[in-house]
Amino acid sequence: MGIVGAGPAGLMIGNLLRQRGIDCIVLDKHTRAETYARSRAGFIEWRNKLLLEEAGVATRMLAEGEGHGRCEFRSHGHRHILDYSELAGGRTHWVYPQHELVADMADAYVEAGGDLRDGLGCVSVLDHGRPRILCSDGRELDCELLAGCDGFHGAVRPSFPEGTLTEHTIDHGWQWLAVLVDAPPSSDHLIYALHENGFAAHMMRSPHLCRYYLQCAPGDTVDDWPDDRIWWELSARLAADGFELEEGPIIDRSTLILRSVVFDPMQYKQVLLAGDAAHVITPCGAKGMNLALQDAALIAELAERYLGGEQNALAEYTERRLPDVWRSQEFSHWMLHMLHNYEPGEGSSFLQGLQSTRLRNLEESPEFARHFALAYVGAE
Ligand code: PHB
Repeated sequence: MGIVGAGPAGLMIGNLLRQRGIDCIVLDKHTRAETYARSRAGFIEWRNKLLLEEAGVATRMLAEGEGHGRCEFRSHGHRHILDYSELAGGRTHWVYPQHELVADMADAYVEAGGDLRDGLGCVSVLDHGRPRILCSDGRELDCELLAGCDGFHGAVRPSFPEGTLTEHTIDHGWQWLAVLVDAPPSSDHLIYALHENGFAAHMMRSPHLCRYYLQCAPGDTVDDWPDDRIWWELSARLAADGFELEEGPIIDRSTLILRSVVFDPMQYKQVLLAGDAAHVITPCGAKGMNLALQDAALIAELAERYLGGEQNALAEYTERRLPDVWRSQEFSHWMLHMLHNYEPGEGSSFLQGLQSTRLRNLEESPEFARHFALAYVGAE
């Protein structure tokens, strides 16, 4: 099996296939050092904690990461701390940076005899009865099966013939500034804050690393956000009695346009798409890497059955994954609209009324809060 992309999805497939004794090759246009340098997500659902354990790649995450089960909503001076772990039967998220997880998965894969070619890209995929990868060094690789885990801008999906995919897409019209701060978290739980200047969030990555998000104006670039503006806005938007920001060097800053995409189907012949190659989700709710890992688990199961002679196994992929992808999209969209400022205009005060109702339901209705908790934590 060929696997294009050595991110969470590609390496999860690689590890699960090695466990099953199936030959595979993972290639990625980035070198491991480049991948390691990119800071990404870090909020792992309960069901994926179980999956990582099953794949034998959770040891360092369990030792160095942390279980988290509380989050806080701050809205115009009001604070609500939600113990979602209690509502979700003790399940928690695991907080562990994506690049560390990817490093652990790459090590485990190589130790298990897996073939990892970093710095080798896929230019396109040809259909020769079986998929043939055209590599960036001119080589061609034939495989029985191929997983495209090469991200939204990767080469695998665009190799599908015209008309094979329907793209469902929405631009939410909001933008975030994301910063990574070399300092301890300012609180022991996640914070989502609503403020007249826009949404802000506090997300921990490790005992010494903290991620913050700020809703910014569409079109803003990082040049619009020097350090002092970032700290000023964070302290205004996250302000609460007794709360102090742990300041430190800002080691990474980027802007994120909030948009969502689902491709349907997620497969063409013997080529299966996983992660951002198949769907893009906003960071709100932290579902992106989590969906990628779930895609990977099903691909590994179906690959084993297909290579074992079950010709129709691959047809199950889209059918079984899309409902879960849409469930996460709905969750993220719901949360996005609970937390962001609307531009004044037609309908905005109505939408704001809905927003306050969502927050109130979370606080006042145990049934509502329990539903949120199970979806948020990613109960298996
Ligand atoms: C994150 O850790 O980056 C994160 C966590 C929870 C969210 C969004 C982002 O809802």
